[in-house]
Amino acid sequence: MTTPAQHSVDHHATSTRARTQVAVISSSVRDGRVSPAIADWVVDALDDIDGVEIDLIDLAEITLPDDSQLYPGGGPQSEVTGRIAAAEAFVFVTPEYNHSYPASLKRLIDWHYTPWMLKPATIIAYGVHGGHAAIEHLRGVLAELNMVTTRRCLGLAAPWQTLDGTERYAPGDGTATALAAALAELAWWRDVLTDARTHRPFPN
Ligand SMILES: Cc1cc2nc3c(=O)[nH]c(=O)nc-3n(C[C@H](O)[C@H](O)[C@H](O)COP(=O)(O)O)c2cc1C
Repeated sequence: MTTPAQHSVDHHATSTRARTQVAVISSSVRDGRVSPAIADWVVDALDDIDGVEIDLIDLAEITLPDDSQLYPGGGPQSEVTGRIAAAEAFVFVTPEYNHSYPASLKRLIDWHYTPWMLKPATIIAYGVHGGHAAIEHLRGVLAELNMVTTRRCLGLAAPWQTLDGTERYAPGDGTATALAAALAELAWWRDVLTDARTHRPFPN
């Protein structure tokens, strides 16, 4: 069963192969944000891949506990702990705010610890010039959580200029091809790391 926020697709409903759980995290929470349009574009691309189950986590729709309860290694269970734990791979959709990614995303990361561990992520950032500072800041933080970021990440320059009349992000073919390549890398890391988490004890 899926929650209303989950989009699932199964082009081979009779297949016994387990579907890959991918969480797409839409990071901006401000009024008038661009983030949902970019996240929907990513969800549509994942929908085109066989055997993927997508959970769209919109940070504007969740409430994390007060930071007074935070401690090293996370905090009490949040309303999305189970959804992060269920995911085998992540796509972070994030704007660049003041040369980094937004505080809303840092809070999500800090509130969860073990559920991120040894999983892969692709970063789709955007900003006036592509949000590359947000990508590089986020890479360093995710490495601290033993996550692997794909080499291919996307930096979208001023995507708000590319929204169509229905507020959907509609970039050119080159950007869609770049996203497909990044998601293919993510799928490779998902296979490798899911197997590794199952069969290889991690040296602590
Ligand atoms: C607080 C704040 C800081 C920003 N800082 C940057 C920045 O450092 N670099 C940049 O390219 N754009 C910056 N911008 C512009 C954002 O890229 C642009 O507003 C984008 O639409 C934000 O994403 P969102 O609409 O999903 O929140 C900033 C916007 C905000 C609201």
